[in-house]
Amino acid sequence: MFHWLEKNPFFFAVAVFLTIAFAGLVEILPNFAQQSQPTVGTKPYSTLELAGRHVYIKNSCNACHSQLVRPFKAETDRYGHYSMSGEYAYDRPFLWGSKRTGPDLMRVGNYRTTDWHENHMKDPAGVVPGSIMPAYRWMFTNLADIDTAYAEQITVKNVFAVPYNKPLPMKDGSKEVVKLADSLSGAHASALAEAKLVVADMNDKNVKEMVNNGQIPEIVAIIAYMNSLK
Ligand code: HEC
Repeated sequence: MFHWLEKNPFFFAVAVFLTIAFAGLVEILPNFAQQSQPTVGTKPYSTLELAGRHVYIKNSCNACHSQLVRPFKAETDRYGHYSMSGEYAYDRPFLWGSKRTGPDLMRVGNYRTTDWHENHMKDPAGVVPGSIMPAYRWMFTNLADIDTAYAEQITVKNVFAVPYNKPLPMKDGSKEVVKLADSLSGAHASALAEAKLVVADMNDKNVKEMVNNGQIPEIVAIIAYMNSLK
């Protein structure tokens, strides 16, 4: 039926263009829909959370863990509401992952606590018998990289208009502002203040002492990040 098209280079080129243009629109247009805008309750990462996200990426947690709840009953029963595109608005890069050796972590902040993570990261099998997740003991002494986290915050604010210092709508109808420090020393101070809140629920004496002395070990940053996943 379309033999004439194959024999006519001009119309064939036009048909190829139309086909690709249509496929492009199908991919691009949904991103303009309301559901694709930042979901209510989604906020940019604080300096400490972002430093924790870097620890997560550095240690390839996403090789075993997804951050994407699929719209199936078995998943929503276990993890909560299925993931929506607007929830990833401030994830660069997104960490959907493609393999679930361990459970999904998209909403782990809703059902795991700081002290649970502390014990689990130190010795997973001690908390979950038979766990094959590796222990991450070096995170209890390695320092989190606050400088890089702050640099990323400034970059995404300036380049991608990530709304730091702006009131954002929350699910309960209130507004919340995620502050971005004016200076590097200010960023260190606010990360330390946040770290103190996390450490209050931890037991490791060495980690508590480090934070008291103004140092932030990676474990504190990654727990702050885990707690932010909701
Ligand atoms: C080799 C694969 C593997 C890697 C790498 C890995 N995990 Fe896991 N993780 C697992 C498995 C398997 C479980 C389930 C058993 C358990 O809870 O220990 C798990 C469980 C978890 C849980 C509990 C989730 C829940 O719903 O109970 C958290 C939190 C977690 N991992 C965080 C991390 C973080 C953070 C990293 C990176 C620093 C990481 N994992 C790296 C395999 C892995």
